[in-house]
Amino acid sequence: MKKTTKAAAYAALLSLATGLVPVAGARAQDTTVPDTNSDNSLVARGEYVSRLGDCVACHTAIHGTKYAGGLKIGTPIGTIYSTNITPDKETGIGNYTLADFTRALREGIRKDGSTMYPAMPYPSFSRMSDADIAALYAYFMHGVPAVHSPDKASTIPWPMSMRWPLGVWRMMYAPKPQPMNTTEGSGDVARGEYIVTGPGHCGACHTPRGFGLQEKALDGNGGEAFLAGGAPIDNWVAPSLRSDPVQGIGRWSEDDIVTFLKSGRTDHAAVFGGMADVVGWSTQYFSDSDLHAVAKYLKSLPEVPVQAAATKDPHGTTEMLASGNTSGHAGADVYLHQCAVCHQNDGSGVNRMFPPMDNNPVIVSQNPTSLVNVIVNGGVLPPTNTAPSSVAMPGYRHALTDQQIADVTNFIRNAWSNEVHGNVTASDVQKLRTGGTPIASAAWNVSTTGFSSQAPQPYGAGWTFSPETHAGADAAQ
Ligand code: HEC
Ligand code: HEC
Ligand code: HEC
Repeated sequence: MKKTTKAAAYAALLSLATGLVPVAGARAQDTTVPDTNSDNSLVARGEYVSRLGDCVACHTAIHGTKYAGGLKIGTPIGTIYSTNITPDKETGIGNYTLADFTRALREGIRKDGSTMYPAMPYPSFSRMSDADIAALYAYFMHGVPAVHSPDKASTIPWPMSMRWPLGVWRMMYAPKPQPMNTTEGSGDVARGEYIVTGPGHCGACHTPRGFGLQEKALDGNGGEAFLAGGAPIDNWVAPSLRSDPVQGIGRWSEDDIVTFLKSGRTDHAAVFGGMADVVGWSTQYFSDSDLHAVAKYLKSLPEVPVQAAATKDPHGTTEMLASGNTSGHAGADVYLHQCAVCHQNDGSGVNRMFPPMDNNPVIVSQNPTSLVNVIVNGGVLPPTNTAPSSVAMPGYRHALTDQQIADVTNFIRNAWSNEVHGNVTASDVQKLRTGGTPIASAAWNVSTTGFSSQAPQPYGAGWTFSPETHAGADAAQ
């Protein structure tokens, strides 16, 4: 969307709101009595729930103090900052009661009654169980040190800075809180659904967004858009988690998904970009039973139409690379000299070290933004507790020209059994390299998600939180 369209979308929200009374004081959920004494097991449970919800990722600034807020989050209308959620009474949430906290998480309403920006994934958190919220509250009140750090003002200009339209957005798009009760440790599909659609808020990145920037579906009942792949956030595209064998994770077994979320690597893929943060700060800490529940749930989602299985290497790519004769094939030439040493002539990579190029959803994804981004900027496979080595993909920002990067991108998208049409140009690469602009949709063939916006999403451009920038924020890193 162009800036004007964004403004128009927002204006539409504003005009829809005309005549509606700004929302104040929606009723808080009925909740159990706040836990005022620090029950250690409840605090520990709450810490685990904070891992499920990855609260640290958004509520910690780059090089900032854990949970003290201040992370810059880009939205289509300006920059907002996450807030201090330490128990400091003046600048944090020290004055929140359990009822206030519950309302904030499930309904996106702050203690002062104003509505939050949906960058806080409250539409997902609306499903969190009373027990999990109570534990989380105990953790934030008794397990997190208070930090005095005032919240930063947003850069959103008036009149768009007024919060009442957010209340209208909330009425239009946010679901009515429907806490789900599941049994931790059960490892079943229902538990997986709870984690994925609730605290884990996986759809915030993996589900395409609609006109109002709302997620098109918040769970499997919402239709095929649910987890069908999102728009770029910080130039990383979250692919489909549906069972399509080419674009989705149809070829992944339950164990593959578990291994990926726990260690960041499998034989098919290595984590990078926004997902590296999710694995590094959140999923690697999930219990095995919860990881299996997540994987079972993802595998249980009805398949999206299956594409014909690709034949192995109809282009004869392996043979061409092995012969060393790449003349006339600029992209193959770059691949042979720069990439094959790690990713191999047959594109199979090296298990758990160098991800494969053949049949890799990242490469055959319709939107090549992540792919170009990783070639330009490289990537670090984060060390996780189960796979402590850190392996790096070098960035080719200086080593290759824009044309060479475009050539090698187009090459690997059509090599071995990969067959994606579309053409990334040198100018697309240049714009991403210098201006951080996602690859123009003209370079893809069709949009799988039907979502063409290139605008920063409410989850927020600029939010990326990585183990390097947050060294020390978490003892385990
Ligand atoms: C994707 C980013 C993101 C995640 C994940 C996230 N938050 Fe938030 N949260 C925000 C933003 C941004 C705001 C500020 C919203 C605003 O100013 O309108 C916020 C606001 C809040 C507030 C209101 C604080 C205040 O200042 O009044 C609370 C409480 C809160 N978050 C708790 C949590 C908890 C607990 C978790 C984990 C379960 C969590 N958040 C996860 C982005 C996030
Ligand atoms: C901050 C945005 C974000 C959130 C939140 C997020 N993901 Fe991702 N995810 C990504 C991106 C970007 C990729 C692509 C990079 C990669 O494959 O490592 C990805 C990739 C994946 C993959 C690999 C898919 C493939 O085909 O390579 C799986 C599996 C996955 N995510 C599962 C999850 C689950 C489960 C959750 C919720 C617990 C989740 N993600 C939450 C951004 C996100
Ligand atoms: C020194 C070994 C090495 C070289 C040389 C190398 N890569 Fe990589 N590549 C890696 C590693 C390690 C990763 C995983 C990085 C991560 O997860 O952040 C990776 C990841 C990737 C990915 C993302 C795939 C995924 O599933 O995570 C792509 C695409 C890619 N490389 C393409 C290339 C291209 C094209 C070249 C040549 C221009 C190249 N690589 C050269 C080691 C290498």
